[in-house]
Amino acid sequence: MKSIILAFSALTLAVLPSSKATATDAGAAWWKSGVVYQIYPRSFQDTNGDGVGDLKGITQRLDYLRDLGVDAVWISPFYPSPMKDFGYDVTNFTDVDPRFGTLADFDTLVAEMHKRGLRLVMDFVPNHSSDEHPWFVESRSSKDNPKRDWYMWRDGRSANQPPNNWLSVFSGSAWTYDPTTSQYYYHAFLKEQPDLNWHNAELRAAMLSAMRFWLERGVDGFRIDGISHTMEDAALLDEPADPSYKDTKPEFDKLLHVYTTEQRSNHSIVREMRKLCDQYPGERALITEAYITFEQQAAYYGTPEAPEAQLPFNFHLISADWTAASVAKVVAEYEASLPTHGWPNWVLSNHDKHRLGTRLPQGQARIAAMVLLTLRGTPTLYYADELGMKDVFVPPERAQDPVELKTPGKGFGRDPERAPMMWDATTNAGFTTGTPWLPLEPDYVTLNAEAQDSDPQSMLSLYKSLVKLRRATPALNVGSYKQVAANEDVLAFIREAAGQKFFVALNFTDKISKVALGDLVGRVVFTSVLDQVEQSVAGALELRPNEGVVVRLD
Ligand code: NOJ
Repeated sequence: MKSIILAFSALTLAVLPSSKATATDAGAAWWKSGVVYQIYPRSFQDTNGDGVGDLKGITQRLDYLRDLGVDAVWISPFYPSPMKDFGYDVTNFTDVDPRFGTLADFDTLVAEMHKRGLRLVMDFVPNHSSDEHPWFVESRSSKDNPKRDWYMWRDGRSANQPPNNWLSVFSGSAWTYDPTTSQYYYHAFLKEQPDLNWHNAELRAAMLSAMRFWLERGVDGFRIDGISHTMEDAALLDEPADPSYKDTKPEFDKLLHVYTTEQRSNHSIVREMRKLCDQYPGERALITEAYITFEQQAAYYGTPEAPEAQLPFNFHLISADWTAASVAKVVAEYEASLPTHGWPNWVLSNHDKHRLGTRLPQGQARIAAMVLLTLRGTPTLYYADELGMKDVFVPPERAQDPVELKTPGKGFGRDPERAPMMWDATTNAGFTTGTPWLPLEPDYVTLNAEAQDSDPQSMLSLYKSLVKLRRATPALNVGSYKQVAANEDVLAFIREAAGQKFFVALNFTDKISKVALGDLVGRVVFTSVLDQVEQSVAGALELRPNEGVVVRLD
């Protein structure tokens, strides 16, 4: 007993200011009150045995998503594509790649989703197309082609010298020489992903009309890919070196991207997209993707008069140290950075980042679920995180991701987090009858969705009950946030709405921790261990190792 007491981390209450917006908005828009679930379509469910997931597969699995309790599904790109960057290299912005199905399959998917009250969020890729897109094929054909200016063509600085020192996110120069017209074209990503020129009015109109195409077909919103990169400074000056660069980081980080990212004019694009979405009923939403500062993120809400995105993705927890103190700091800074009309959102992983189950110490993945689903703001969860899936080992000969192929063995590759979903214990986890395009998580025999569904304490059961609790509890859903305590070990906060107050305490350690409750009294209504609840608490709350609890305050 003594050793347990010594291991206690006692935490006393210190109430910090409450979040600015004390939303008690019962009829909140779906993007505010809902939970978003990301599907990487290549890896969700294959129905034709080619080892790659497809739209029919997603339709087949909609009841799983409904039972999980999510509200919206963002699907990574399924446009026609040579798949150099697995769909983020688009050859037609208004069609479906045959590997994923047909437009008819898409229509069925939307209809089936809507039948179940689920929203569909498309991925939209405004920054670039594939080099095989007919627009680029035309553009590169001659200097006076009408589509020449739809991309960024420039003369070299001198013979065999690109126009400047700009780097591709995926390494190497961001300029590729094209002998047909003896000019260079700019590409923030792969050379097979030439940047579109949003200064060109025709290109702009063509891209917005592609969005209109999907809005007419019933999509509920767009996740806007790589918004930071859409505009570049016209002077084409060299970018300065980043003095803090270390060679363990990608080459792209050598420079400070002052001329190629986060240009003010990016906002005019998002404003136009928003105007378009607002012409349609049902709160069509924009989610912008950018790894930027809180201040830059806040700007993507636009203003009440000229709104931009409803949800500028907030990735700051992905890079935060996993301690209660540093998570508390991220939350406080984020909350403070939000404009009054800005609604927060939280992301813990996606198809570009190593999986939660791999990044966090064992036991903490459950706390991550609680963080994601009890903070103030819309959560986005990445498929199979609800199963506690880990990164999969991908042997070099099976590498697929262009980042891994260009910079092998450095740990920058994104294949490990893109492995197939684990549905059941049958061959290939029920994902495919063919050869899966990436290896499966070897634990699938025990960690699959079917097995976890019948285990009342599994990770899947945790996600399901948390989503359910959140939905049933306005305070946890749209209520205010007030941090009450944080040290290295425990984060505690109060969520409040509609006259109800909930105290959330999360133990970021694998030892017992104690939180002083001051004069707060209440009843435990939820524990991440998924065992005893309805226990009264007063004076202090003892958290078991890696435990998070929700207490309804009297
Ligand atoms: C961000 C996407 O999430 C990533 O997967 C992709 O490679 C780049 N944008 C380029 O489109």
